[in-house]
Amino acid sequence: MYFDTHAHLDDKKFAEDRELVIERARASGVELILNVGYNVQHARNTVELTKSYEFIYGSVGVHPHDAKELNDAGLQELHRMAKEPKIVAIGEVGLDYYWNNSPVDVQKKVFREMIAFAKEVRKPIIIHDRDAHQDVFDILKAEGAQEVGGVFHCYSGSWPLAREAIKMGFYISLAGPLTFNNASKLHEVAQMVSLDYLLIETDCPYLAPMPFRGKRNEPSYVIKVAEKLAEIKGISVEEVARKTTENGKKLFNIR
Ligand code: NI
Repeated sequence: MYFDTHAHLDDKKFAEDRELVIERARASGVELILNVGYNVQHARNTVELTKSYEFIYGSVGVHPHDAKELNDAGLQELHRMAKEPKIVAIGEVGLDYYWNNSPVDVQKKVFREMIAFAKEVRKPIIIHDRDAHQDVFDILKAEGAQEVGGVFHCYSGSWPLAREAIKMGFYISLAGPLTFNNASKLHEVAQMVSLDYLLIETDCPYLAPMPFRGKRNEPSYVIKVAEKLAEIKGISVEEVARKTTENGKKLFNIR
């Protein structure tokens, strides 16, 4: 049984067939899904999804892309939503220096606020880090994020950096890019990081794994990530599924 620890099922790309996509996930053996909010509106959608499906959990937070839109009313609403029973994490939050959709100083300010928020509500952090490794680490350290821990979602850094993240109490989550042919750096991460610290995810509708690369992604494809991880580690896909699900439940405090 699989745990897709990062999905965006409220995305408009699922507007036509969301119900079917969710049914397909269940039929494929996906036991749990964590739907990730990334701004106030998507946090609201996420809360709704957690109420509609008993196997869907959620997170609320503000992505660096949306950091420039956050105001006091939004922050207060996020605090209220974080108290909902199936909201198990704060995220996704972090820094994105590839797109820079919000100014860097605003991204950093909101990232610090989100870490403080996570510590206040005592929930783990789901981190988005794109081309910002050093600043993400510096801020996590300075703000004492190890108190709550969390996960580097759709991990894209090196193995030495993954080792640093784990030392700080964070998990490493692998997504579709692990299955791409040119992903030798990620293959090294998958090989070197103990299965004790790994999660799997789709980040759907984005980043579909092989052989669906370029198409819409969905939770049932998390199996392709598990299969690749099993191949790299030389273990069974059942072992990958069992352990990554156990890790996810432990991190997000799901029984
Ligand atoms: Ni995401």
